[in-house]
Amino acid sequence: MANELSVAVLGPGGVGGLLAALLSRTGHRVICLSGEKTAEALRTDGIRVRSARFGDFTARVEADTELREPVDACLVTVKHTALDAALARVPAPVLSDGLVVPFLNGVEHPAALRARYRPDRVAPAVIRVESTRVAPGVVEHGSPFAEIDLTGTDVPRPRLDALADAFAAAGPATRVLEDETAALWAKMSFLAPFALLTTRYGLPLGDVRTRHRDELTALVEETAAISRACGGPADPAQALARYDAFPPSTKSSMQRDAEAGRPLELDAIGGALLRAAERHGIPAPVAARVVDEVHPFA
Ligand SMILES: NC(=O)c1ccc[n+]([C@@H]2O[C@H](COP(=O)([O-])OP(=O)(O)OC[C@H]3O[C@@H](n4cnc5c(N)ncnc54)[C@H](OP(=O)(O)O)[C@@H]3O)[C@@H](O)[C@H]2O)c1
Repeated sequence: MANELSVAVLGPGGVGGLLAALLSRTGHRVICLSGEKTAEALRTDGIRVRSARFGDFTARVEADTELREPVDACLVTVKHTALDAALARVPAPVLSDGLVVPFLNGVEHPAALRARYRPDRVAPAVIRVESTRVAPGVVEHGSPFAEIDLTGTDVPRPRLDALADAFAAAGPATRVLEDETAALWAKMSFLAPFALLTTRYGLPLGDVRTRHRDELTALVEETAAISRACGGPADPAQALARYDAFPPSTKSSMQRDAEAGRPLELDAIGGALLRAAERHGIPAPVAARVVDEVHPFA
């Protein structure tokens, strides 16, 4: 194909495995980076995807434990709790001019990546999807949607456009957004109250939004004020309306992680929210209490 890209995927799990398989299926070269066991499973069996939206298919990918040659882009799709250890697999001199495209939830990781890689090659992305790695190399994409917002304040626009075109051709609806801060905080503003309260109470969204409505409203308002102070969007009424539109059984991934005894991305979401509040002098008593109450699950 004319515009074939070479793409590394650091952490081929729910998000990374889905993107790796979709990109490979459309003809791009994909190198997944993981621990040896997962790499071996991927080399042998490829990535098997089950998706009502994109079909059930198996995609061949290359797999290694570290990046050994330059690529056009390295998607970073580990959880925040594994980020530092995982980045050791992507030496900056090897990646060189390649884009670094993190899909993590949260707002603080782009700065950490810019300290480690070329700052003008870090292109943070936000993804709206529900995708689960059920075994190494086996991914279930459960949501009827998969949408990507790609940003990167100082990244040359043609580089962003080329990658966005590759994503869009592979399946996920993809936009390039000018305002990185707004994109990251839009996701954070929606995610933080939802993740924190569903995890705190061990209840799905339907119960949180009815039985803990006042607390949800207060947390959404605090989060919106923090987002506004950081240069992000602030529309608490819209956030509440979005929660109300979700099926009552909806769970957050933080809640699923707590149920499964996995480490939580609490610091990247709740911790980052409180640090931003502190930095801007925004009172956040409800957020502070709920983050405290979630700590024992982390
Ligand atoms: N899943 C979703 O639907 C979704 C939606 C929106 C945003 N997000 C965000 O996307 C990020 C990734 O989430 P996820 O759900 O895709 O996570 P995940 O399914 O747990 O996948 C993470 C992957 O990272 C790998 N990994 C862990 N430590 C590693 C290391 N040191 N080196 C290399 N690979 C390592 C794991 O390998 P093994 O397979 O070997 O365990 C796993 O494949 C998170 O920040 C999450 O909040 C997720």
